[in-house]
Amino acid sequence: MTEREQWKSGLGFVLAAAGSAVGLGNLWGFAYRASQGGGLAFLLLYVIVVLVVCLPVLVGEMILGRSTASSPFVAPIKLAGNNWKPLGFLFALASCGILSFYAVIMGWTVDTLFHSLFVGLPSDMREAGDFFGRISSGKSVFIGQIFSLGLTALVVSAGVRRGIERLTRWCMPLLFLLLLFLALWSATLPGAIEGYTSFLFKWDASQLLDKTTIRNAFTQAFFSLSLGIGIMVAYSSYLGKKNKLPKEAFQVASFDTAVGLLAGMITFPIVLSFGLKDVISESTVGALFIALPTGFANLGGIGRLLAALFFGLAFIAAITSSVSLLEVPVSSMMDTLSWNRRKSVWVSTLIVFLLGIPSALSLDFLGNMDAIFNVLLILGGFLIAILLGWVVPSRYDEDLSASDSNLRVRKYLVFMIRWISPTVIACGLIISIYDLFFNWVAS
Ligand code: TRP
Repeated sequence: MTEREQWKSGLGFVLAAAGSAVGLGNLWGFAYRASQGGGLAFLLLYVIVVLVVCLPVLVGEMILGRSTASSPFVAPIKLAGNNWKPLGFLFALASCGILSFYAVIMGWTVDTLFHSLFVGLPSDMREAGDFFGRISSGKSVFIGQIFSLGLTALVVSAGVRRGIERLTRWCMPLLFLLLLFLALWSATLPGAIEGYTSFLFKWDASQLLDKTTIRNAFTQAFFSLSLGIGIMVAYSSYLGKKNKLPKEAFQVASFDTAVGLLAGMITFPIVLSFGLKDVISESTVGALFIALPTGFANLGGIGRLLAALFFGLAFIAAITSSVSLLEVPVSSMMDTLSWNRRKSVWVSTLIVFLLGIPSALSLDFLGNMDAIFNVLLILGGFLIAILLGWVVPSRYDEDLSASDSNLRVRKYLVFMIRWISPTVIACGLIISIYDLFFNWVAS
């Protein structure tokens, strides 16, 4: 056995974790969910779910990885015995499933980037529909999907330090600069104020009890933080004892939320300035691939350049997430089958590609995959809370006390993971499943 790799620096780990969190989910999920009626109420629920429910679970995943120094498949077994094997399966299955359709959307992103640079963008809504039809069907989907998966595989096969850490160290600052620049530019558009108000400041207290808004807040929080399927277990298994996990988890969550907000401040002014409001609340992908290219195209040549920057940014955000998804099955195979990294990477990639074919062929299928796996994330989060709050309750505090001297923070987290997180997640899970079912029956 070769020795387990470790991150080069603490910052490297935080950047990689933030890179995993910040992705396509922030760029379209946040904006479209907020625009589905929730507005400020959605935002408020989202922040509460992140602070109250997700943070203790995020720290829990990190502890699970660090204290066992094992892959997500093996960590639950090491901690609590063979009865917990199904959780490892859930982690592996869910990460492959999510990556399978994530790579398809990444493919559309590459294609849109290509169109902004070399071909041109749709100038009105009718053309935009055709445009989206073209990039989301036929041969070009597979080209984009294979390109995205291939690039992801190359980074992961280079290893934790030389692949993932190096990628995120370069990409995250670049991503943040691009975001700031585009948000400032967006603020100069005529519809900027209207955009902000319709996105952020629309207050309707009854939305706080709306079951779709509640489901949106839960799924967005879990999906956006990459929570519930062992990503942070995998990343934290390469950590030393010194890292202050609660602080780092808080940094990751704040950065992720900030990026979601900034992304909304880019997209909403564009959407409102060019009268594209209806498009985004209608479909999950509309905002990114129908409304935005059209909005940018209305600005002529400079618009194409800005579009290239935006979709370049989206691709950067996506690849730092897709590598984290691939790392889950890869590290699990390395651990259980004693394969080397390269072999594990290519076998996992092939499985993910095959799983993704139906999503590449059908938008409906992709939408259903998204809905189903979002619920699995919440289930995963629930099980992690049970594991660390009830089954092996001592591990949480033991692991933290090696690096965190702040007793109050530790006490708070231990209380939350035992009592509050599982209870609230269970309610969220029930409401989400009910709402999903209700929508399916109604449609
Ligand atoms: N969080 C990423 C996003 O916002 C996507 C992602 C990466 C993810 N890893 C994940 C989602 C694990 C759920 C679970 O786009």
